[in-house]
Amino acid sequence: MFNMTINQEIAKAAAILKAGGLVALPTETVYGLGGDARNPAAVAKIFAVKQRPNNHPLIVHLADASELEQWALETPETAHQLAQAFWPGPLTLILKKRPEVLNSVTGGQDTVALRVPRHPQTLAVLKAFGGGLVAPSANRFTRVSPTSAEAVRAELGHQVDMILDGGMCEVGVESTILDLSRGEPRILRPGMITAEAISAVIGQPVHSSHSTQDVRAPGMHLLHYAPDTRTVVLSAEEIQHYIQQLSAADLPAVCLCWSDAVHVQHQQVTIINMPDNAKDYAHELYATLRTQDSAPYQHIIIEAVPANSDWEAIRDRLQKASGGNNADKTRSK
Ligand code: TXA
Ligand code: MG
Repeated sequence: MFNMTINQEIAKAAAILKAGGLVALPTETVYGLGGDARNPAAVAKIFAVKQRPNNHPLIVHLADASELEQWALETPETAHQLAQAFWPGPLTLILKKRPEVLNSVTGGQDTVALRVPRHPQTLAVLKAFGGGLVAPSANRFTRVSPTSAEAVRAELGHQVDMILDGGMCEVGVESTILDLSRGEPRILRPGMITAEAISAVIGQPVHSSHSTQDVRAPGMHLLHYAPDTRTVVLSAEEIQHYIQQLSAADLPAVCLCWSDAVHVQHQQVTIINMPDNAKDYAHELYATLRTQDSAPYQHIIIEAVPANSDWEAIRDRLQKASGGNNADKTRSK
């Protein structure tokens, strides 16, 4: 096959996007399904391809923080401080939107989500394109986000005009979403940029509301980011007990462990060792879930991760992957 150089690929991606097409783009968090944020037809196509409900708003990706004012009506000092500290990077800011921002992008809300992603190829595409690109995670609604070009291909295949291969995503879980539009800063979706890190930059406390069920953010539905295989999250101690009581129909199973406290010896239970630090764990999480989901297991058992703030985004995604299946629920079965 004709082998394009990276520059040619970037020019091609920008041309497709200008013409209203869709390009899957690598970011540092997960792959996004990119389209022109000012083009209603492109935005409509994204919702159709993702099979995503219309009232779930999209994030607008920018090449540079200097473009903020083209989208946001009000940019508080905290927005500039955070952009300076974390962009390009895995932080999304919710700000009051300018009137011309498409309703289909914002789900009819008066706010818009904005971020500058940290991936050289996608930054180059954004510069060549010369505007904002909406880019929801490049998976079908409620499925695990893709962190490699192969995973995008498996999710959306030929429904996209181009997949820009930028290798495996560095961070591995979606950006932290911070609402700056209603007074007190509030985290709507935890990510690898923690509340403490944000608080340290803006010098004020940061609230968290992601545990409440907010229909505006699909990432907040319990059954989101979910593998097809039944998935449970249990502590190391619970895992032993749980495995002993599994019936033949529940096996074989795979167990994702990060600590050395899990001692399982069962012919039909495969152990996968996950990293014991949050950064590396996040990097591997979705790829691991995807691989194990397509393997012939009846069960994915995941060891619960530490309760501290470094792991918060991962705890959140594990809870969603398991649809809230934890020890309390499994015990009552
Ligand atoms: O890391 C990421 O953020 C990735 C990469 C591709 O940039 N994108 C991503 O997009 O995760 P998506 O569409 O899968 O999730 C966007 C989240 C949704 O939960 C959505 O509800 C929320 O952002 N969101 C978008 N606009 C919003 C708004 N105006 N107010 C509140 N939440 C908003
Ligand atoms: Mg998503």
